[in-house]
Amino acid sequence: MAETILIVDFGSQVTQLIARRLRELKIYCEIHPFNKVNQTLISNVAPKGIILSGGPDSLTQAASPRADEAIFASGLPILGICYGHQLLCQALGGVVESGLEREFGRAALTISDANCTLLDNMPSNSQIWMSHGDRVSKLPDGFVTIAISENAPYAAIADESRRYYGVQFHPEVAHSLHGITLLENFAHKIAGCKKIWDMANFREQMIAKIQKQAGEAGTVICGLSGGVDSSVAAILVHQAIGDRLTCIFVDHGLLRAGEAEQVVALFKEHYAINLIHCDEKTRFMGALQGKTDPEEKRKIIGKLFIDVFQEQATNIGESEFLGARFLVQGTLYPDVIESAPVYGPSQVIKSHHNVGGLPEKMNLKLIEPLRDLFKDEVRALGLTLGLPEAMIARHPFPGPGLAIRIPGEVTAEKCDLLRKIDTIYLNEIKKAGLYDEIWQAFAVLLPVRAVGVMGDARSYEYAASLRAVTSQDGMTADIYPFKPEFLAHLGTKIVNEVKGVNRILYDITSKPPGTIEWE
Ligand code: XMP
Repeated sequence: MAETILIVDFGSQVTQLIARRLRELKIYCEIHPFNKVNQTLISNVAPKGIILSGGPDSLTQAASPRADEAIFASGLPILGICYGHQLLCQALGGVVESGLEREFGRAALTISDANCTLLDNMPSNSQIWMSHGDRVSKLPDGFVTIAISENAPYAAIADESRRYYGVQFHPEVAHSLHGITLLENFAHKIAGCKKIWDMANFREQMIAKIQKQAGEAGTVICGLSGGVDSSVAAILVHQAIGDRLTCIFVDHGLLRAGEAEQVVALFKEHYAINLIHCDEKTRFMGALQGKTDPEEKRKIIGKLFIDVFQEQATNIGESEFLGARFLVQGTLYPDVIESAPVYGPSQVIKSHHNVGGLPEKMNLKLIEPLRDLFKDEVRALGLTLGLPEAMIARHPFPGPGLAIRIPGEVTAEKCDLLRKIDTIYLNEIKKAGLYDEIWQAFAVLLPVRAVGVMGDARSYEYAASLRAVTSQDGMTADIYPFKPEFLAHLGTKIVNEVKGVNRILYDITSKPPGTIEWE
């Protein structure tokens, strides 16, 4: 791509959001870890501008990551964000010190130089998002301050002659209300990148990449869950290599009601894609018997998935091409960042089965065409691939399925009970016309029983919790504000119609501090 912004990643949890914002602006960009960015990479990527991301380290420590000299020697416009801003200053002769106070969260930005192109079309006062401990205490020669905040006298700085800019805040997060304008000013007005990037473009590029990765011959298998991600991944790979793709649909007994039938109908019958339907209920349920630790459950399921894929992979194909060499997974960026940070000491939140559960030694190489995308981008991609809207609009469903919605031991009986509750819940949401307003709604079967009174008799049955959240990308989420009458209606209907549950709760926890799934 001729019109590229290179993002140098120093390990911030939100680096990917820089890419996401640029892509919203239809500007192409690539993220590369700081220690891979050198003269060769810059020549290969041929960017028009460079963004240095934030990161968890402190420049006051000798071992903290630095930028390769080739970045400054390139003559390209540079924007440093947070750690990147400090690094830019230090590399050019400024001074960075540990701040006496850390500054996290909302702050107010006041523009002091309205003529600077970086701040074009931004109001003179706006909300920004800060997250830093260190701060710049002396600017390098050639730089001037263009905006300040209460705690950061050098909140935004510029050396317009060299086209170098730095911001202490994070313009890429949604809470920096005009941050996207700043990124647009840098990438489009200063670096001169044209706005030509869209999902059709991504599709073309990805198809070429998949064709290159999969080579001339041999079978590629795809773990299809029926969710949007693996479906989009499968159709993309099918468009790239046609019948060399075989999808493997594993029924682990942890699916929603009717899921297996729908997947087979769509892929085998509608799209005529090769599909193997593996009934592995007994194996998964057996392995989960007696297991209660959330991470252990996730790892067991992840491992069994891979075992099944590997078994299927060895028997697929013909003569010299016997055995598949590649496995396609619909891994998304939030799965990657929450289970295996790109760089740095950020915490592992949970092992998403697509990523964290993979064995160290695996005979299959991975093809993960959606690894850099957020959910809403995957949906947009699905539309360009011609997937039915109803399929695209489906709420996300995690690979480990109902197992992570049944805290404690998972049994077939509990799964049946949960499926019944979940079906009623989702049907009522659809009937009320709320399905598309909600990012994800599902029921959770709790490992507790409650006393109730039904007719004149005492009941002692399970309690279930309903969850519904709004979100843009699954990284953060708010609870969906159902009307109290609707919640009351759900409570009555579910308890009346599902034998085995006598108490319904509504989960009012946002993410953070909760996660969307319970485990
Ligand atoms: P959490 O629970 O981490 O979920 O807030 C964020 C989003 O990711 C989905 N999720 C998964 N998807 N494999 C998946 O394919 C997994 O292991 C997994 N765990 C969570 C979750 O449903 C939500 O949409």
